[in-house]
Amino acid sequence: MSTGTVSFTGAAQILRPPRDGLDQLRGADLAGQTLAPGGLTAVGGVIAALEPDPRAGLAVDAHGCAILPGFIDCHTHLPFAGWRAGEYEQKVGGVRYEEIARTGGGIASSARALRESSDEQVLVQSRGLAAEMLAAGTTTFECKSGYGLSREQELRSLRLAQALAAEVAQTTTSTALLAHSVPSGYTADTWMDEVERMLPEVLAPGGVSALDIFVESVAFSNAHLERMGALAAGAGLALRCHVEQFGGYRSVPVALAAGARSVDHLATLHPDDVEPLAQADCAAVLLPAAEFLGAEHRAPGRELLDAGAIVVLGTDANPGTAPVVSMPLVIGLAVRLYGMTTREALAAATLNAAWTLGMARTLGSIEVGKRADLVLLDAPAEHVAYRLGHNPVEIAFIAGEPVYVRDERAAARIGLR
Ligand code: NIG
Ligand code: FE
Repeated sequence: MSTGTVSFTGAAQILRPPRDGLDQLRGADLAGQTLAPGGLTAVGGVIAALEPDPRAGLAVDAHGCAILPGFIDCHTHLPFAGWRAGEYEQKVGGVRYEEIARTGGGIASSARALRESSDEQVLVQSRGLAAEMLAAGTTTFECKSGYGLSREQELRSLRLAQALAAEVAQTTTSTALLAHSVPSGYTADTWMDEVERMLPEVLAPGGVSALDIFVESVAFSNAHLERMGALAAGAGLALRCHVEQFGGYRSVPVALAAGARSVDHLATLHPDDVEPLAQADCAAVLLPAAEFLGAEHRAPGRELLDAGAIVVLGTDANPGTAPVVSMPLVIGLAVRLYGMTTREALAAATLNAAWTLGMARTLGSIEVGKRADLVLLDAPAEHVAYRLGHNPVEIAFIAGEPVYVRDERAAARIGLR
């Protein structure tokens, strides 16, 4: 971590929450975010003042730039092996996800790829993706297991997530997605028995902060979600869940009763479940890249925001439904598809995502005392959504250190040539 002083001067916009100390932004607080011009100073990797310091060791010329908190991608499936481009062609041709899954594609084919890849092959691919994510401004991301489909491979997948964490610039978290697809030789029930038996071994090395489950006709049911909730509660872990992606199973009330930290996807969320979710301390994690690429239904993003939900955006980066790692792209899709304002989408991609990962006290917003994980954009914040497909990130800082510098122009901003 940097121990020096870094000072940012002349920014056209700095994204700030309406008040300090908020763990998430919902309701009126979303519109209360400000994008005022100014500067800031980080000392020892932590934001120390909301004004520049002329004595700083590193002076960052932020003229014409927006400064935002680094993006936090709270829903990815890294590490995984290989890709499934052929499936995308099938999907575009009209074959449904469930059909692909039932004929040996989908999660099972990524599980085969994982089994057949060496640790180093998986890490090479994942490192490359982490570097792409950093270049697009992601300074923290979640890893998930889930392509193991056996005790050994799930444990290996979590080990690989830890190995990745040690190698990348970003902060990462590990979620054990132990119920993703029913492994061959098991029923959903007998696999859940296995999950329960393997849990102590999963948790022994430390590092896992959440359990996850996929509720779907081709995967697990609400009863299994309830059971995973009990396992998470017993282990003191957060419960995350993939729910209401394809079929509608009314999983949200079940997840809320189980005390879920987040319900993810929600493309087929039942209208009656919007209000209870909006009242709960449970994040609604929307994954617009998966919805767009899979021609899925569309989550009621606007309705959730208007009802006061903790709305969050993530990439869902995975080889099947969302081979996408760019948070700026996800923000652009979300603004258009859900009718979000740029500010709403930025909160959903930063502080609210930090809350989902249990990190909102130290990350996710520009406040004195928080870690100086920041992105410097080449344009005003509104351009993140507007210039869809353009990567606006010039420099990414983690704990005050410039860990990604796009080009010479960006280098000149920090006095490098
Ligand atoms: O979040 N829905 C379940 N899991 C992933 C997709 C997994 C895959 O198809 O490889 C998702 O979309
Ligand atoms: Fe997912």
